[in-house]
Amino acid sequence: MNLIIGSNSLISKALQKDWDKKNIKYHLTTRTKKNYTKNIYLDLSKLNKVELSKEYSTVIICASCTDLDVCENYPKKTHLVNVESIKKIINFYKDSKTQIILFSSNQVFDGEKPFREINDERNPLTEYGKQKKEIEDFALKFKNISIVRLTKVFSYQDSLFKSWKENLLKGKKIKVFSDYCISPLHIDIFIKKINNLIVKRKPGISHFHGGYPDISYYDFAVSVANELQCSQDLIQKASYKDANFIYKLPRFTSLSED
Ligand SMILES: NC(=O)c1ccc[n+]([C@@H]2O[C@H](COP(=O)([O-])OP(=O)(O)OC[C@H]3O[C@@H](n4cnc5c(N)ncnc54)[C@H](OP(=O)(O)O)[C@@H]3O)[C@@H](O)[C@H]2O)c1
Repeated sequence: MNLIIGSNSLISKALQKDWDKKNIKYHLTTRTKKNYTKNIYLDLSKLNKVELSKEYSTVIICASCTDLDVCENYPKKTHLVNVESIKKIINFYKDSKTQIILFSSNQVFDGEKPFREINDERNPLTEYGKQKKEIEDFALKFKNISIVRLTKVFSYQDSLFKSWKENLLKGKKIKVFSDYCISPLHIDIFIKKINNLIVKRKPGISHFHGGYPDISYYDFAVSVANELQCSQDLIQKASYKDANFIYKLPRFTSLSED
């Protein structure tokens, strides 16, 4: 039996779908009170004592504050969710046989070089990246933890890509950054890799990427339009400079795989 912490996350939902098809048994946690008769209640912003079973074979931590603006604006609150509470869960399982899977991000790097190697120096540009770096450092002390650094996961369930799809299929124009990069990791590839990691139980850091080098969001949107058999003319170039991001954006986002 496995446990997925965070029932509503993009990755969690994709895993649930895959495991349901394969009849893999799992429990879920939620922070939504109305769902916790069905699932286990766990709110990372209010986690005093961890009260979970130690019988799980694998615990996958999907819950996290993933909004970079929110992390930047509320570093203390998000540190509690992304670092302090995760440390409590890791400590709870430290002497058990349970494999913990923890997600980190290419945001631990400064984006100055493409295809970052696992042991490259980390130098995060954002509060989110700093929090991921801190939890990586803590998790690395434990042999039962698999840390997975991801590039941007591509799924039509993601709010950005969902809006692209909906607009393109309606023949509506979309504005996409031509000066900001992505190295997309398709959700189906991600699911295969995560299931493989569960079998192998590899500790330490792994890089998951989708085989794409860095491409601009614009070029990626063009490939999405082609896949959806929509006109490329619907995609308009925009600049990240006009979006007034409150944090610095990395030039490159790709990871090299081990
Ligand atoms: N998706 C990507 O492209 C990507 C890339 C790099 C790294 N990652 C990492 O992979 C992991 C999963 O990402 P994701 O994209 O699946 O996440 P996501 O879709 O943004 O979902 C995050 C989940 O965390 C939950 N959450 C937030 N605050 C919480 C709290 N205080 N207590 C309990 N749950 C809380 C949210 O619950 P509600 O639904 O109730 O709001 C939400 O379901 C994260 O660690 C993320 O940093 C993802």
